[in-house]
Amino acid sequence: MSNALETRDYSQFRIVPRTPVIGGWIEGCHLSELNGQGMADLREALWTYGALFARKQNLSFDQMKQVALGFGDRLEEHTFAPTMAAQGHPEVMHIRRRNTADTTSTTDVWHHDVTARKHPNIMSVLQASEVPFGADTLWSSMTAAYRWLPEELKRFYASVEVEHDSLYLAMRHNFGTPEILDRIAANREHAIHPAVIAHHVTGEPCLFVGNAYVQRIKGYPTDASEALIKIVTDMSKMPEFQVRHQWEPGDIAMWDNFGTTHYGVSAVIGNHPRELHRVASWSESVTPTAWTGNDTPALKAVA
Ligand SMILES: [Fe+2]
Repeated sequence: MSNALETRDYSQFRIVPRTPVIGGWIEGCHLSELNGQGMADLREALWTYGALFARKQNLSFDQMKQVALGFGDRLEEHTFAPTMAAQGHPEVMHIRRRNTADTTSTTDVWHHDVTARKHPNIMSVLQASEVPFGADTLWSSMTAAYRWLPEELKRFYASVEVEHDSLYLAMRHNFGTPEILDRIAANREHAIHPAVIAHHVTGEPCLFVGNAYVQRIKGYPTDASEALIKIVTDMSKMPEFQVRHQWEPGDIAMWDNFGTTHYGVSAVIGNHPRELHRVASWSESVTPTAWTGNDTPALKAVA
């Protein structure tokens, strides 16, 4: 395959690819110790590999925030998911599977995070505390998915916009308790984004739809909209575009929230506890913008 990812030595760490198209191991550093050059390298690595993984990090919440702030100047405070606010960290989302038989999960759909916002997250830092065997997380490259599409479909999707809505997410994916539904309805979020965006740093075209908040293709009849959205969301399922991470306690995963989708496997968990923490960054200066068909990536344009 042309343009396959390769091992690359940066100033303070090495990245070893996990697949030819997405994912890389970070080796040789503790993320809390990166200096300015190290963080610049980490940004370049994330935009190149899409998702990065590191073992034995065990970052504090403050260290997770420090890493995330290297990518965007604002930290997400989630409007309906549990957080560590009571411990003084409202920016740390608490992903926790309750140990009950009737708990429903919302991680097992392919999605970009918080797309119902005008300024979705740029990236996330996710750390595992306790993850049962089989509860892996997968990421899929939406730049590779776009490249895979026939030219006619590339042009079509580049010509439409998609409506994203947090209430639609909750209703489609069975969020369970009425309390959570009420919280989502009270903080309802709605945004319209191009179905194909130019990545805010690389300029590369990426599919930006997902199967979480997506409501409809703007202006399209329901049946046509749903059929056309399914073509895009099914792209995430192709193994050629994926990397799968088997968690160990203390692992860190980071991902490009524009260029990749992700999926948390939950059906095999049963009642076993699952606990992770996530910090995500965003910026009022970063909004998904339409791919215009210009084949020159922004990075090359400014080089
Ligand atoms: Fe997510």
